[in-house]
Amino acid sequence: MATKPKIAVFASGNGSNFQAIADAIQEGRLNAEIALVVTDKPEAFVVERARRLGIKSFSFIPAQYDSKQLYEEMLKEKLVEHKVEWLILAGFMRLIGPVLLEAFENRIINIHPSVLPAFPGKDAIGQTLASGAERAGVTVHYVDAGMDTGSIISQQSFPVAGRGREAVEEEIHKLEHELYPATLQKLFHQPVKTKDLYDSMQG
Ligand code: GAR
Repeated sequence: MATKPKIAVFASGNGSNFQAIADAIQEGRLNAEIALVVTDKPEAFVVERARRLGIKSFSFIPAQYDSKQLYEEMLKEKLVEHKVEWLILAGFMRLIGPVLLEAFENRIINIHPSVLPAFPGKDAIGQTLASGAERAGVTVHYVDAGMDTGSIISQQSFPVAGRGREAVEEEIHKLEHELYPATLQKLFHQPVKTKDLYDSMQG
């Protein structure tokens, strides 16, 4: 049996991506275990979703800490206590700082609602539409110290075709809910291909 990585899902809002990940696990499409949901917004609906699924959640209020370093050290302790191996950001609206980046090097993943590197940061869908771009889309990427700048793991796009915000948003969420669990499954379980190995040895 393949090992089951323990993940923490970080979210600040509705939590539909958390739900999609939990559903994929339940349906056997994603072999992982959600050890903890972490939120910086105790009133966020994601907390209720976790409760309904019987998944532990942990809320904190960043303003109650003197610095990002202090709350990240607290979070790191919590994550280690739950033996979390991967941090999966799903609508977590804060930059990750050095404490967590170092503790979970190359093990922090994010989903962003644009075809990165275009339209990083807040309201990516609004930015996409305002720019008149022909395509909208979503990106799953590693998290580094920048704002949505880490290396890209997977990406999908579709034509905007004159559609309004609501329709584009709906399509984006649909894509996200398929792409995120599928990408995580590959990331956690796909063996390194021989070809890649020898490619990287050349030169
Ligand atoms: C998602 O569309 C996600 O891509 C986006 O927030 C939404 C959260 O929805 N994330 C970002 O914009 C991060 N920069 P959800 O709470 O329903 O999963």
